[in-house]
Amino acid sequence: MNSINWNDDIKLGIKEIDDQHFQFVNILNNLKTALLEETSKDTIKQLVHTLILYTTTHFRLEEIFFDKFSYEFSTEHKTEHKAFTDKIMKIKNDYFDDKIEITNDIIELFNNMILEHINDSDKKFAEYYFKNK
Ligand SMILES: [Fe+2]
Ligand SMILES: [Fe+2]
Repeated sequence: MNSINWNDDIKLGIKEIDDQHFQFVNILNNLKTALLEETSKDTIKQLVHTLILYTTTHFRLEEIFFDKFSYEFSTEHKTEHKAFTDKIMKIKNDYFDDKIEITNDIIELFNNMILEHINDSDKKFAEYYFKNK
């Protein structure tokens, strides 16, 4: 199982946001390691919980930026955040209710969703930010 490498290509140049994206990658890698080492369910639950907390905190931070700089695509971007949060919450709830297991495929899915979102929507915002800050 490969770990997810932090890649400078996904840097936006906005330190606070980049730092949080970096933390995302770390949490996902910790989850991957936990699965690999067959860590106890309690530990995995704790990591999933941290991921959720991080997701909501991070989206809130970006949305504060959108409002502060009157970002033109704020609504669309917030909708993506909401869809992402709903998806991740559903998986968390199903896991906590013992309906599913957290698998490497799920971590990959989170990873791809996050990277795609950063590369597309977050970068679009960064472009706007540097023109309008
Ligand atoms: Fe982001
Ligand atoms: Fe975003």
